[in-house]
Amino acid sequence: MHKHMPHAPKQVISDLQIFGGRPAFAEKLHVGRPNIGNRQWFADRVNEIFERKWLTNNGPFVDEFEKRIAELTGVKHCIAICNATIALEIAIRALGLKGEVIVPSFTFVATAHALQWQEITPVFCDIDPQTHTIDPNQLETLITPRTTGIIAVNLFGRNCEIARLEEIATRRNLKLLFDSAHAFGCSYQGRMIGGFGDAEVFSFHATKFVNAFEGGAIVTNNDDLAHTARLMQNFGFTTYDQIACVGTNGKMSEVSAAMGLTNMESMDDFIAINRQHHKQYAKELADLSGVTVLSNDEEEKCNYQYVVMEIDASNTLVTRDELMQILHHENVLARRYFYPGCHRMKPYNSSALSLPETEKLSERVLSLPTGTSITPADITAICRIIRLVVSNGREVSEKLRAERP
Ligand SMILES: Cc1ncc(COP(=O)(O)O)c(C=O)c1O
Repeated sequence: MHKHMPHAPKQVISDLQIFGGRPAFAEKLHVGRPNIGNRQWFADRVNEIFERKWLTNNGPFVDEFEKRIAELTGVKHCIAICNATIALEIAIRALGLKGEVIVPSFTFVATAHALQWQEITPVFCDIDPQTHTIDPNQLETLITPRTTGIIAVNLFGRNCEIARLEEIATRRNLKLLFDSAHAFGCSYQGRMIGGFGDAEVFSFHATKFVNAFEGGAIVTNNDDLAHTARLMQNFGFTTYDQIACVGTNGKMSEVSAAMGLTNMESMDDFIAINRQHHKQYAKELADLSGVTVLSNDEEEKCNYQYVVMEIDASNTLVTRDELMQILHHENVLARRYFYPGCHRMKPYNSSALSLPETEKLSERVLSLPTGTSITPADITAICRIIRLVVSNGREVSEKLRAERP
């Protein structure tokens, strides 16, 4: 029996765990549970590391990982970094950003932190309601004499309006960096993500569909930028005792690169599974009024690593948070990525700032479990719960409110 084998399908709302039923899943189903490639190949690489006794400092696996990423994305330079947050920080510094940088608020907080950590002010921009990525029209209105750059985010592996952003950056003489933490293996207008703007950053964190335990990379076609970023990730060392610039320790370890290489070898399989899962969720929720599964452009390559559902509570009568709470009780750990928007988070909280599209969307989104640890039967069971809750939205919501202490 599969360890996630759900119990008998729930028929009525009193079957929901939150109202006294048994949880649908015996074990917790996570969003972003790691995909793990061929364990033997990984073990062989780890043995090689031990044989070589070369654990870090730009070892052969890091070198190979960088080459594979550059090859896959068609980008001239790749610098592997210990994680994407540090990769963003280094790229920001190597690009010479200062003053103000425009970023979407609807992103993971690391995008903003990477700026604020260096005392650069993130200026939060709203999103376009169609693409859910930075709104180029509003962006232009936020440019001031202090603005030095833009960090756009290819959120959930869905593309920003890249051509427009490149046009604005060129015309307004601004640097353009893409936070493509979610977009490894994706394409835009037939070209792989990685080669746009001045530079792009990928994440290989454990939750990303290709992971290196922790990991990131800066990719760029700019020779000077690549040179500076490579110096900065290794304390600014040019030779063993010469320092060219202020730097940090952003190096990726050999064991991370071994994991990254191993998982890249299974990348096509991971994408095929994610794509199948995405299709299944979309199909099983297709006719459910008030619920939309965000789609991806089928003309482009996509990693399908996020299944994001939007809930219109005026239609479902049950809120996103109520649905999330119910799912959590069923052991389905759906996540409200990215609530509440960086501009409403404590370090950035500006009560004066209103970003209506970000605020609206962050109240509606819910990311659902996918990846190699989820089965089609799990998805059917999850969709049945969502259907049961949404098609009885008013009753569920009233019952929840009545039972709330
Ligand atoms: C949009 C975005 N940017 C940056 C990061 C930071 O990546 P890392 O965890 O590799 O530092 C993440 C998440 O993990 C992310 O989702």
